[in-house]
Amino acid sequence: MKPFEKILKDNKTWAAQQLATDPTYFKRLIEIQSPEVLWIGCSDSRVPADKITGTQPGEIFVHRNVANLVVHTDLNLLSVLQYAVDVLKVKHIIVCGHHNCGGVRAALSNQSLGLIDKWLWNIKNVYRQYKKEINAQSSEDAKVDLLTELNVKEQVLNLAKTSIVQKSWKENNAPDLHGWVYDLRDGIINPVFDIPAGSKVDEIFEYDNL
Ligand code: CO
Repeated sequence: MKPFEKILKDNKTWAAQQLATDPTYFKRLIEIQSPEVLWIGCSDSRVPADKITGTQPGEIFVHRNVANLVVHTDLNLLSVLQYAVDVLKVKHIIVCGHHNCGGVRAALSNQSLGLIDKWLWNIKNVYRQYKKEINAQSSEDAKVDLLTELNVKEQVLNLAKTSIVQKSWKENNAPDLHGWVYDLRDGIINPVFDIPAGSKVDEIFEYDNL
């Protein structure tokens, strides 16, 4: 059986199991799409948002890209963010990185990997800001782990710099922003950085006419 055929087969088994335990499962889900959380995570196959958080369908709105970046020219991310904040009115946004992230590791190297260099450029800029602290680490793994944490922090700050989040802070006093790192070694998520709704952002990024 080819990998994609196994996925279709496993899907049928899963759907049958859901119905066996709860005959109204799908009927109920059709009617609800009111998640209170937006999750921005890494595309890495080992970090599936709902599995590692034990959340059920309907509970979290998810966007994933390589190394969980919040880039202000990324129409995809911005559309997800605007919809989650303005329409779904999520109460929390979580940026979740993970230890041993391939995107972060690649950004720390000097090897070109093709088009993705343009995306990883954003992480190189985070490195540039914290070069001293990162270079002081004793191993390459420790450097990757520290840059992973700092990258999460910078992406949370990037969220706070958007007019979408600032407008919602003014109007709804939400969402709170959270930066987390998932540890592949023990499956535990560690919070690293928070920005509560309504916080001050660096004044150059503040919009005063929203
Ligand atoms: Co990753």
